[in-house]
Amino acid sequence: MIVTIDGVAASGKSSVASGVARALGVPYVSSGLLYRAATLLGQEAGLDLTDAAELLLHLRSRPLRLEPLAGGNRVWQGDRDLTPDLHASGVDSGVSVVAAHPDVRAWVDGQLRALTAPFVAEGRDMGTNVFPEAPAKFYLTASPRVRAERRARERPEDVEAIEAALSRRDALDMAQSAPAPDAQIIDTGPLTLDGVIGVILAALPARDPSA
Ligand code: DC
Repeated sequence: MIVTIDGVAASGKSSVASGVARALGVPYVSSGLLYRAATLLGQEAGLDLTDAAELLLHLRSRPLRLEPLAGGNRVWQGDRDLTPDLHASGVDSGVSVVAAHPDVRAWVDGQLRALTAPFVAEGRDMGTNVFPEAPAKFYLTASPRVRAERRARERPEDVEAIEAALSRRDALDMAQSAPAPDAQIIDTGPLTLDGVIGVILAALPARDPSA
């Protein structure tokens, strides 16, 4: 079975997907890391990120591998682990441009669809475009202020500045970040991490123990 967890930036998708996956004993798949890896590689090569054709040519000659581990995903290029560099602020600010290219999205989608189920897939369009047939879909929301306050606990940055940056990213990501019509929408604002995980686990279709 594939469970999809989509939602806005900093809504807790990765932590929730990881917790749900652990409870189910399956890996989770963080699709955003592939967009981040494409951005990092483009930036390192000094490419113009608005030029999708040039970027794709570069990416195709350097295959990436997403390793969907239960505790946290890693992205490899050959034997280089790109993961530690994928949340740098330079990548944060370039990734929305990269993720807006339809051809880059198709390149990411192909890699995700090649993975072997079962898993929990987390991103923006897992339930709409990539795995529309998934039997269990969730969409996480929270106000920009709540998300900024959570981020500020992880990074020594000003809440107002984080909130402004998140609102900018929401606007840029909007095109690919709508809930699937059959997704359950969860406002994570009033919930703890374990609370959100609990809501999702309780809503999953019963599994056939013989399957
Ligand atoms: O979830 P994240 O912050 O790691 O995602 C990084 C960027 O990639 C974000 O700007 C939205 C984009 N993204 C996307 O467009 N589609 C996905 N399925 C996952 C991420």
